[in-house]
Amino acid sequence: MTTERRFAHPVLDAPALGDAPVAVRVLGDDLVLWRDAAGTPRAAPDRCPHRGTRLSLGRVCEGQIECPYHGWRFDGAGRCVSVPALPAFVPPDSHGLATHRLSEAHGLLWLHLEAEARLPSFTAEADPKLRKLNVGPYEVAASAPRIVENFLDLAHFGFVHEGWLGDRAHTVLDDYRTEPTAAGFVASGCRAWQPQSNRLSSEGSWVDYRYEVTSPWSAVLTKLPEKQDGYRDEIALFVCPVDEEHSRVWFRMALTDFDSSDEQIRAFQHTIFTQDQPVLESQRPKRLPLSSGEVHCAADRSSAAYRRFLRESGITFGVLP
Ligand code: FES
Ligand code: CO
Repeated sequence: MTTERRFAHPVLDAPALGDAPVAVRVLGDDLVLWRDAAGTPRAAPDRCPHRGTRLSLGRVCEGQIECPYHGWRFDGAGRCVSVPALPAFVPPDSHGLATHRLSEAHGLLWLHLEAEARLPSFTAEADPKLRKLNVGPYEVAASAPRIVENFLDLAHFGFVHEGWLGDRAHTVLDDYRTEPTAAGFVASGCRAWQPQSNRLSSEGSWVDYRYEVTSPWSAVLTKLPEKQDGYRDEIALFVCPVDEEHSRVWFRMALTDFDSSDEQIRAFQHTIFTQDQPVLESQRPKRLPLSSGEVHCAADRSSAAYRRFLRESGITFGVLP
């Protein structure tokens, strides 16, 4: 699982980390998050080196995380700084925690299991003409690759999202292209007929779709409805691989819609994703089969490109060979 560690993983909404420790699970490992004395977010294994207790059940005192069992305290660098049963004892390095760096981007905290782990790009973030907000997190009983593949799939709109993103009278897909990029690939030339493409659309319209896969667990969708001049949606999907069969999902929306309230935009995206969720949770096997076990058709071009990309990237978590 070395490839998976070379990417930063989204773990929590940044404002959700306050004075209390928070437990998260990433790539099957339990971690505790807290803020140190300087307010810097910190991550460490959620397991006290003394007797294996979950540190996330403890509390944070002056930026140090305190174990709930015997009160040992650890500073932001993971050093054990206090053993209350032995006030004169100076704990050696072996009594400390191995910490990981967290960064903040797109309103989320990202875990860097390795120093050079990289964040997925989302260029719309820097565009002042677009309004940004997050939708999620959703806890989904599906592997992360199943969720990304669903995000790239155009042929399900008329069935899963009937009356919203699709219609049974318009299920035929145009040809579209996929091309590799440095970080993943792009699928362009896609078009979908959508009765209600976004919150502001008032009639059905053809909508241009462009997908960019920016890491094994993230993708950006750009939607341009033909009937709403100047309207643009860019939706980044960020998936945290919690374990092989569970994921935490966010949508980072960047849109030209400055009229709707946050609640209205979230309600629209929530409707769409909760249509996808039962389908995703029903898929078997839960891990995405990369080479065999499922049949394909020419309309699955983006899915084929995604599976090839995962194979070539050496991903082994949440997939079957
Ligand atoms: Fe954590 Fe003893 S188990 S202090
Ligand atoms: Co869908």
